[in-house]
Amino acid sequence: MFKKLFTQKQSQLEDGELAVTGTVPSHIAIIMDGNGRWATKRALPRIAGHHEGMKTVRKITRYANDLGVKVLTLYAFSTENWSRPKKEVEFLMRLPEEFLGTYLPELIEQNVRVQTMGDFASLPEHTQRAVQKAVDSTRENTGLILNFALNYGSRAEILHAVKAITQAVNDGKLSPSDITEQCITEHLMTRDLIEPDLLIRTSGEVRLSNFMLWQLAYTEFWFTDVLWPDFDENCLREAIQVYQTRSRRYGGLEEPTK
Ligand code: FPP
Repeated sequence: MFKKLFTQKQSQLEDGELAVTGTVPSHIAIIMDGNGRWATKRALPRIAGHHEGMKTVRKITRYANDLGVKVLTLYAFSTENWSRPKKEVEFLMRLPEEFLGTYLPELIEQNVRVQTMGDFASLPEHTQRAVQKAVDSTRENTGLILNFALNYGSRAEILHAVKAITQAVNDGKLSPSDITEQCITEHLMTRDLIEPDLLIRTSGEVRLSNFMLWQLAYTEFWFTDVLWPDFDENCLREAIQVYQTRSRRYGGLEEPTK
């Protein structure tokens, strides 16, 4: 079944056990956690866990695209991850290159569009080059948006927005009364994206770790003990099925009509 799924360009997903009926979340955001523990459990170096996690990225991207998810945001490297040992950081900075070097052709074939959010300019040049190439060569694609949060921190993002808005007020381009929630939303790195419907964090940790603090205000959360390298299509399907049981009332008494 998995093999069949992988060889399909536009998977039908109607008949197999991986099919999902009902509403699929438009935007899924994932905190991919547990790579280090996955490796340690196998007496492997931590980087082996990150490498295995990269394969999960491929698997979940394909499945999300097949399901018709519109945006998949993956927390690949946080602004706090620089404090890890140098060797681990260097390895993590090589992963986008390896991932895109291996899988860019199939991402293009699957009509996936690659994007990033985060402090791009502070990434090593080799990382920037690999990511920029993928962004440029998938720009016109109309399928899933694969949005890597790379050197991303939500507080830094909000701070940047506040500074930009303050500057605009000082320059007379905005007045204080123009500063609305919408205005702040439009100054964030996600300005062109819909807000996440579903947030997933793997590995049993239950916190946000400076991830999309503004954007997750009304997102449904789903946590699993599964470590990211072990996360698979069945896990994502389970998350979506749980999501479908949630009643999203946005502070009101009823779900808003679409
Ligand atoms: C957290 O697990 C994971 C990360 C900081 C890195 C996530 C990166 C990947 C899954 C690969 C990314 C792939 C591409 C294509 C960019 P952890 O190391 O904190 O795990 P631990 O809590 O078990 O130590």
